[in-house]
Amino acid sequence: MLLITRDIIPGVLARAQAEHQVRELKLQGPFDPAKLLAATNGVTAILCNTADKFTANLINALPASIKVIATYSVGTEHLDLEAAAKRGIKIVNTPGVLNQATAELSLTLMLMAARRAGEGERLLRAGKWRGIAPTFMLGHDVAGRVLGIYGMGRIGQVLAGFARGLNMRIHYHNRTRLSPDLEQGAIYHATPETFLPALDFLSINAPSTPSTTGWLNEARINQLKPGAIVINTGRGSIVDDDALIAALKSGHVRAAGLDVYNNEPDINPGYLELENAVLIPHLGSATVETRTAMGHLALDGINKALAGF
Ligand code: DGY
Repeated sequence: MLLITRDIIPGVLARAQAEHQVRELKLQGPFDPAKLLAATNGVTAILCNTADKFTANLINALPASIKVIATYSVGTEHLDLEAAAKRGIKIVNTPGVLNQATAELSLTLMLMAARRAGEGERLLRAGKWRGIAPTFMLGHDVAGRVLGIYGMGRIGQVLAGFARGLNMRIHYHNRTRLSPDLEQGAIYHATPETFLPALDFLSINAPSTPSTTGWLNEARINQLKPGAIVINTGRGSIVDDDALIAALKSGHVRAAGLDVYNNEPDINPGYLELENAVLIPHLGSATVETRTAMGHLALDGINKALAGF
């Protein structure tokens, strides 16, 4: 029996139903571990997403029949991997297939933030537009500017390709330097201290790990050039919200484009009042094509894991 926590794309659901007995939980909004536990009788596999928090307590309470938990995401920070390993439960995620969609969203946020698109749309919808004028709502070009990518993995590399097409210059900071064929002329910085002052735009494309948590803190924000723009499609945990909100208020950070947040969906309310923050509700991989590919990859992983038992 495969337990699916939330609504999934119909084509993926049809395949799941052809290959497994399926129980659909159809959770909406916040995750309720008690609801999940109550539906686990006879279940061998679970298909969940990043809103479903599998703590050690929950994993320890799962019935022994459960052999695999697959998540509709590349990120696995919502799953206690150590507890799952101790119980012999395999974890499956969906890397690779969402690179293009997530990089497209980073690009969208970068252009929206640079060109004040969110602010302009709000003004127009509020009926406050009084017509075009030479100094009306000026943004900034991206061409010729330096884009710094924190986390030059697969998504970061796709974003770098888009940005090269916009005549931006690419710098990046990773723990390890890429080979020249992957770097494609991007400038590597081994430390944030040389990286951050070099940037006009900072795009966070790193995963949530203990070493990335709180990475963009007040001290590092102060190392950015005045007027830099910050984009985050990685994870909210990488950013100190209070520090970023303060910098957006002072103008030290000119604008931000955010798709991910601490404590989603209850984000820091300080962002909501900022005209210079473009706020998107975690849509990085949310295209029909990508969510279909993620679903099939998750099912492949579930089948492989179950075949191994
Ligand atoms: C991921 O895959 O981790 C994305 O953030 C979608 O949840």
